Amino acid sequence: MQIRAIIPADHAALLALWQRTPGICMRPEDAYEPFCRYLARNPELSLLIETDGTPIACLLVGHDGRRGYLQHLVVDAPWRGRGLARALLDEALARLAALGVGKSHVFVLGDAPEALDFWQAQQGWSARTDIQVFSTRGAS
Ligand SMILES: CC(C)(COP(=O)(O)OP(=O)(O)OC[C@H]1O[C@@H](n2cnc3c(N)ncnc32)[C@H](O)[C@@H]1OP(=O)(O)O)[C@@H](O)C(=O)NCCC(=O)NCCS
Repeated sequence: MQIRAIIPADHAALLALWQRTPGICMRPEDAYEPFCRYLARNPELSLLIETDGTPIACLLVGHDGRRGYLQHLVVDAPWRGRGLARALLDEALARLAALGVGKSHVFVLGDAPEALDFWQAQQGWSARTDIQVFSTRGAS
């Protein structure tokens, strides 16, 4: 099993992985065209692990030149508990560091206890209590 960068042709298989994973919320940005735009804007950063040509773990990784942003960290259920998520995170943070991005964020839904437990357990990550996130879909 090797980590490699996600390419546009991975979209259908990743969509299937996200759709069969409880707790992963699909967004309009997960459609093929925005997915490809995201990969092009953040080359060689989003990662997957595959076996027999099928993705079993993935992580979407982007940055704004200052901070890294991680999304859709998923390990397919039969493959959990083997360090695959940790391996994806380590590789992603190394690739971001090589670009000069030394700090990253992940946004986790407050009603996702399993994901919150995972992030609470990760060394080097801490939950922020000093920040509230405000979001918009654009000018009204
Ligand atoms: C969360 C998830 C990605 C973990 O994947 P994984 O490959 O099983 O995780 P790893 O084996 O790499 O575990 C890394 C570390 O986290 C710990 N860990 C894993 N899952 C955990 C959980 N649910 N709660 C607490 N700790 C957890 C492991 O014990 C391990 O600790 P260690 O390094 O001290 O041994 C996987 O369970 C998953 O895909 N869940 C559904 C999707 C999801 O919630 N994703 C997060 C969205 S932000």
